[in-house]
Amino acid sequence: MDKILILDYGSQTTQLIGRRIRDFGVYTEIIPGDTPFSLEFLAGPVFEGTRALILSGSPESVYAGGAAPDQKIYSLGLPLLGICYGLQRMTHDHGGKVEPLPEREYGRIGVTVSAAGFPLPAARNEALAGFFAGFDPALSLDAIKGGARFSPGTVAAGAAAAGTAGAAFQFTAWMSHGDTLTRLAPGFIQAGTSETGYPAVLVHETENWFGLQFHPEVTHCERGREILAAFVFGAAGCAAQWTMEQYIEEVRASLKSRVGESPVLLLISGGVDSTVAGALLLKTLDPDKVHLMYMDTGLMRKNETGTVKAALEKLGAKHLHIVYCEKEFLSALEGLDDPEEKRKTIGDLFITIQEREVARLGLPDSYFLVQGTLYTDMIESGRGVGKKAHLIKSHHNVGSPLIEAMRASGRVIEPLDRLYKDEVRRLGRILALDEAIVSRHPFPGPGLAVRILGEVTREKCDVLREADAIFIEELKKRRGSQGKSLYDEIWQAFAVLLPIRSVGVAGDVRKYGWVLALRAITSADGMTADVYPFPAKDLLEISTRITNSVTDIGRVTYDISSKPPATIEWE
Ligand code: XMP
Repeated sequence: MDKILILDYGSQTTQLIGRRIRDFGVYTEIIPGDTPFSLEFLAGPVFEGTRALILSGSPESVYAGGAAPDQKIYSLGLPLLGICYGLQRMTHDHGGKVEPLPEREYGRIGVTVSAAGFPLPAARNEALAGFFAGFDPALSLDAIKGGARFSPGTVAAGAAAAGTAGAAFQFTAWMSHGDTLTRLAPGFIQAGTSETGYPAVLVHETENWFGLQFHPEVTHCERGREILAAFVFGAAGCAAQWTMEQYIEEVRASLKSRVGESPVLLLISGGVDSTVAGALLLKTLDPDKVHLMYMDTGLMRKNETGTVKAALEKLGAKHLHIVYCEKEFLSALEGLDDPEEKRKTIGDLFITIQEREVARLGLPDSYFLVQGTLYTDMIESGRGVGKKAHLIKSHHNVGSPLIEAMRASGRVIEPLDRLYKDEVRRLGRILALDEAIVSRHPFPGPGLAVRILGEVTREKCDVLREADAIFIEELKKRRGSQGKSLYDEIWQAFAVLLPIRSVGVAGDVRKYGWVLALRAITSADGMTADVYPFPAKDLLEISTRITNSVTDIGRVTYDISSKPPATIEWE
């Protein structure tokens, strides 16, 4: 299967590059930017099928200790695309010069690409025409995926359509850089320039090497997807061979051969990932051998346990072990109001209960532990893939000694570890998992405890559960601007109970109720987030319904903070 390898130098958007390209149907893997391209690596499974390399962006500078690729990548004959730092890296590695900008450039910046007057050496025509298709407004994404190439004719038409002079393409790119190229390396040609006068698009005279100073993977970058697709299909000649159906077949075969007749145990959190992993197990192995364990911590959303139980039973679960441990969690949380202390207490208790309950099941030693780990979790935990990103917030889920011991003895299976979140959702749909579960918003491991600011009590959990359920129900029934439900347009929405009360009036009587904050954000992956711009009518009606139905709540506010600087959760 054709594959694009992404060398990661730590940009916050490296994962997005991989996701965008997989959306085209081409498989991608992310590896540390300084991976040695040894003979062993070149003959190994990660490199197998590689048709091109992409060098990612980075928070570092090439002249100040930023990681370098193994220089062998430049003699493999593979097409290369350098993005931001990746381009600076290629320039630096070939004798060009990279220096700091007087002021960092961040955000939307116009770029002009002069493909028309560009001298195309005959031998380079094919790949360059493929690459330049990405900038040509006359060519759609589908056309580019189908192999459309830039030609002077289409340039003229495109430029006329875009109203640009001299058959040059203009578009608004998205940049985030503190360094720029001040001298190109020999062999590189500047094909595009930013409105601030810096090199923005580079091609090489003889090699299939390309460079972009902007980030085509970011949604705000105009023609970003087309530019990436033009590299993948036009310049690198990849075929779209990555399908979920094929993945399912591969994973099923490997699960069956690894597990044999042994039982498997899956720890289910109720979130999308572990529930999809459960569906995959139930549809692949003998359900008699599949044990599913779910902890009801009392910090769950309204009806959570019932929903998960019903969905798994519908898929044929025979051994669903639900551990009710609300009392244990609430008493451990008593008197705690520091967010980190709350998170740590919950994490530790998870481990204690997990060990106790797994032992109680009495599975034979030959059992396998299955986890719903995603590709992004693998990247974040630094397992198998790079960990070059600067740590923004230390997350979340517990590394349990049980899981680590099972891993050390080779008995942990992570069947979703090559998938991104949206791919897991697609897999869930193919496996006929309930849509209500598949399209669910993410929910944090520590549950409502990080949405009840200050001390957590049963009463506060109940109040928050009710208010949150009303909010979500309203989002599901209201239409958004794109014709979908508000719930489907929003990436994540929830209610937060604040540790303050305020005065109000209800039926002529003084009321002293809790203050609730509503949060709704749009995001691609939870790494950054924008506030969802509700029409005022929706917010007003939802607020009224909440204060009318949940009498302990006296006031509702809407959180209008983006991430950064705020995080998505409040604690
Ligand atoms: P933050 O609050 O860091 O959240 O902006 C980013 C995304 O991660 C979710 N989140 C968690 N998920 N365990 C999880 O599995 C956790 O401890 C945790 N904390 C936050 C959050 O809901 C958002 O989707």
